Amino acid sequence: MSSTIFTRAFDRRVRTLLTVLGISVVVGGAFGTHTLWQANMEQGYSPAQPLAFNHAIMAGTHKIECTYCHTQALKGPHAGIPTVADCMKCHKEIQTKDGEGHLKEGLAQLNEYWRAKTPIPWVKVHDLADFVYFDHSRHLQPHTGLQCADCHGDVAKMDRVTRVNSLKMGWCLDCHMQAPQKNTPEGWTTRAPIHCTTCHR
Ligand code: HEC
Ligand code: HEC
Ligand code: HEC
Ligand code: HEC
Ligand code: HEC
Repeated sequence: MSSTIFTRAFDRRVRTLLTVLGISVVVGGAFGTHTLWQANMEQGYSPAQPLAFNHAIMAGTHKIECTYCHTQALKGPHAGIPTVADCMKCHKEIQTKDGEGHLKEGLAQLNEYWRAKTPIPWVKVHDLADFVYFDHSRHLQPHTGLQCADCHGDVAKMDRVTRVNSLKMGWCLDCHMQAPQKNTPEGWTTRAPIHCTTCHR
């Protein structure tokens, strides 16, 4: 009884084939993981900030309106981030101490920025490519029925802001392509325009 069913040349070819397959599975797997991992990074992106600003305390516990701080959201393309002077409208008075009688760390930092007259270098959580046009005020008109949370998730529960949506083209289009809602302007066949120049101009 011979153990070699195949010729040596065939045997070698099978082995080469298996090796090539093995390599492509490894490389393909790595590429796939890399792509997925990148996508995850963008979606769950939650960078540390220079000062531990906590939306769950400010917008959650103390129920300060989103647009009290992000004043431009209803008026123009950018929502805007409050300046140190805006913070000090409240924090000249509010100087809360911790259990040991020290000023809370975030507030001590805030006072430093105020004294040094330097802006806080916040790290952007959302940042669309420059070739995309987006406008907050267009989305937040009363007739659209949209809320901050529809795009940003429940920020009032976040200790640290996380990007809950990818901001990819598909995400924008998923919403724009929905069938017209009862508040959609007359004559539109989708919920919002989808021609390329809506967002690329
Ligand atoms: C007291 C002021 C204040 C209030 C109230 C507030 N924010 Fe903010 N918000 C900030 C500051 C400061 C930052 C920048 C630091 C950070 O990212 O945490 C910020 C960051 C953000 C970001 C991320 C911006 C980026 O870099 O992409 C979003 C989204 C946001 N806020 C949404 C909201 C929403 C929604 C509400 C209401 C539920 C809200 N904020 C209430 C001050 C405020
Ligand atoms: C409308 C008033 C108001 C504004 C504006 C405001 N805050 Fe506050 N902030 C509060 C209140 C109220 C508290 C809770 C104080 C307490 O717990 O005694 C607070 C608490 C804090 C704390 C401590 C949180 C903790 O308990 O660890 C930090 C840090 C802070 N604010 C930073 C900021 C920064 C930075 C800005 C500007 C981007 C800002 N605040 C704007 C009202 C405000
Ligand atoms: C239709 C989706 C949508 C809604 C609704 C929305 N946002 Fe945004 N928001 C975005 C996108 C997209 C960006 C990134 C814009 C960019 O990078 O130019 C962004 C960026 C931001 C930023 C950081 C950059 C900036 O524009 O200043 C803040 C702060 C913010 N949003 C707060 C809010 C608040 C507060 C509300 C509700 C009052 C809100 N957003 C409603 C989609 C939305
Ligand atoms: C949750 C739903 C939703 C998402 C997500 C969304 N949009 Fe919109 N968008 C709308 C609605 C609704 C309107 C129509 C507003 C109106 O009726 O005037 C609109 C309108 C617009 C307009 C103005 C269109 C015009 O009339 O010229 C632009 C520009 C736009 N969106 C860009 C974007 C971009 C870019 C993104 C993704 C980064 C995005 N939108 C994500 C719902 C959405
Ligand atoms: C509702 C808004 C919206 C509309 C309408 C839209 N795009 Fe985009 N597009 C985006 C956004 C947001 C990005 C950025 C994606 C990113 O950063 O990954 C993008 C990215 C792109 C890119 C870069 C490659 C990529 O996928 O990132 C191309 C090319 C493009 N769009 C072409 C088009 C064409 C062609 C149309 C019309 C058929 C169109 N877009 C319609 C929002 C839109």
